[in-house]
Amino acid sequence: MPRPIEIAPSVLPADFAKLSEEVAALEAAGVDRIQWDVMDGQFVPNLTFGPDVIAAARRYTSLPFEAHLMVLTPDVMAAEYINAGCQRLIVHAEACTHLHRTLGHIASLGATAGVALNPATPVSAVAHVLDLVDLVLVMTVNPGFGGQRYIATMEAKMAEVAALLRSVGRADEVDVEVDGGIGPDTIAAAAAAGANVFVAGSALYRDALGLEHAVDDLRARATAVSK
Ligand code: DX5
Repeated sequence: MPRPIEIAPSVLPADFAKLSEEVAALEAAGVDRIQWDVMDGQFVPNLTFGPDVIAAARRYTSLPFEAHLMVLTPDVMAAEYINAGCQRLIVHAEACTHLHRTLGHIASLGATAGVALNPATPVSAVAHVLDLVDLVLVMTVNPGFGGQRYIATMEAKMAEVAALLRSVGRADEVDVEVDGGIGPDTIAAAAAAGANVFVAGSALYRDALGLEHAVDDLRARATAVSK
């Protein structure tokens, strides 16, 4: 059974001064979950949301939250992000000295775990932890900022992750998520390569016809080619 197509907006381009309205608008637009791009100014050259910001937005939507922890020490505040209302924490393989332990720690706190791979990081980095995750995130930009150009060479990596999941019998339980430069011109190729969850920020907010149109259009384009 192929994994469902899901649109997971990044709130990075949203108006941070009115996040309650922004998350409610995303829910009304039909997204499947909300991704919080958490940045610590060290793992990436940008600084964004602490757990209190996410907790404040939690009250305004029933959507699942996932925290994309672009941080050097994800174990340190994992509990706080879960307590703030995140059902999933996504950590970077590159940031975790003991990735297997970190993923197990997230599960012990009652959340599900995802693992992210920066463009230069090989799929082999996650080959021995696929039993601990329900999501593998293939970054299609170098993390830190929205509005960057999609790196098409990552499509081979998406296909490699999808094939690896099939080979270990986890393809029905683990999402292949992509993040960075996802929009009308790139989502079909990513879906064809094996991705099923699409993080989009700029493409949603720059759609002149509004959020709902942007979400519907992206979903239709991905569904049309998904494996
Ligand atoms: C990079 C961020 C972005 C953001 C979405 O660290 O993770 O990828 O979520 O960016 P755009 O605007 O390209 O959809």
